[in-house]
Amino acid sequence: MREDFKRRVQEVEYRLTATNSFISYGHQSISEEDIEAVACVLKSPFLTTGPVAAEFESALCHLTGAKHAIVCSNGTTALHLACLGLGISENDLGITSPITFLASANCVEFCGGRTDFVDIDPASLCLSPEKLEDYCKNVAVPKVVIPVDFAGIPADLPTIHSLSKKYGFHIIEDAAHSIGSSYEWNGSQISCGACVHSDLAIFSFHPVKTITSGEGGAVLTNDDKLAERIRMMRSHGIERRIDLLTKNDGPWYHEMADLSYNCRITDFQCALGKSQLKRLQSFKARRREIVDHYNTAFGKFNELTLPPDPKGSSVCYHLYSLQFNDGSQKRYEVFQELWKVRIYCQIHYIPIYWQPYYNRKYGYPIGKCPNAEAYYAHCLSLPLYPALSDDEVGYIIESVINLIR
Ligand SMILES: Cc1ncc(COP(=O)(O)O)c(C=O)c1O
Repeated sequence: MREDFKRRVQEVEYRLTATNSFISYGHQSISEEDIEAVACVLKSPFLTTGPVAAEFESALCHLTGAKHAIVCSNGTTALHLACLGLGISENDLGITSPITFLASANCVEFCGGRTDFVDIDPASLCLSPEKLEDYCKNVAVPKVVIPVDFAGIPADLPTIHSLSKKYGFHIIEDAAHSIGSSYEWNGSQISCGACVHSDLAIFSFHPVKTITSGEGGAVLTNDDKLAERIRMMRSHGIERRIDLLTKNDGPWYHEMADLSYNCRITDFQCALGKSQLKRLQSFKARRREIVDHYNTAFGKFNELTLPPDPKGSSVCYHLYSLQFNDGSQKRYEVFQELWKVRIYCQIHYIPIYWQPYYNRKYGYPIGKCPNAEAYYAHCLSLPLYPALSDDEVGYIIESVINLIR
């Protein structure tokens, strides 16, 4: 049995070398049905945002329970639109986690606001509600807080929501990683993106995410007025209200109510997203299966800390982030060695306030968020996507274990 496993793992290595290929940390899974759905739109008269975008939006509402979904060109524009919807403007303060992709922070800056960072809770790897409350009490009350469901793990939205009532700030849930995840609240499961504990939420459909539309994103909300404004801001700030059509020059009439951008997504991208959404539950199950394989293998080593698996939550893992307790040097060696054997692991993320833009503009000091910095020093994301075969997972596990022994 063990011999057979060894042989199959070796075959993975031979194949990667012979074909000069590699296993990346994330990869899309495209089916024939997906291709047909895209081709069908390409043969139709409508290419840009049209009827299939509306169907994709309905499917996202059905999935999450949110009342409105507005699809757009990517997750970054979704965050920007969410901030524009809330009216974030010059000198408004936004707070996010330092352990996230740059866009979670940049969206406030795009609107002329100022982004600051509150440390993570090392148990969840998401924004710490305790640290957020300290910030509200001792530094300032922000206009918006952007909690990130890091790696698919739901941030503690119910607690952050109660803080928003106490101190008076808006919430945008950055659910770019967490489509398909849910958390427990009052005995029910609440989907990430449902906006039960936020004003708005966003998804990203980049190819490494759980479902993809090539590039794409969505803003979700239960607020009719916010939804209307964001829909308008998606396309140049143009309003096409029925009362404008009847009262003015003619049916061509429209008004540019505010200055905005072209944030639209095409209908063929939405066809891919909608088709992928049908397989979300099987993607989630396969991701969980791989996470379980990794956890069983790595759980035996004191040198390693496994990713969080919070009680009561149902996590659709986007990333598998392992921590090397022996420190950044060990993590660095493992990263280098895995790349040599064609396993293209990644690091998620460098604390954002270390980036030259933020450092130059605000002079945020090293040591500002100790938990985030400690996490960054030890973390490494292993490949995680549904198309990974069991033999490839075995190859990754053997390769990591060989390096820590
Ligand atoms: C947490 C998070 N938020 C936002 C984004 C932005 O999404 P997109 O790449 O679709 O613009 C990403 C993308 O990687 C992300 O990881």
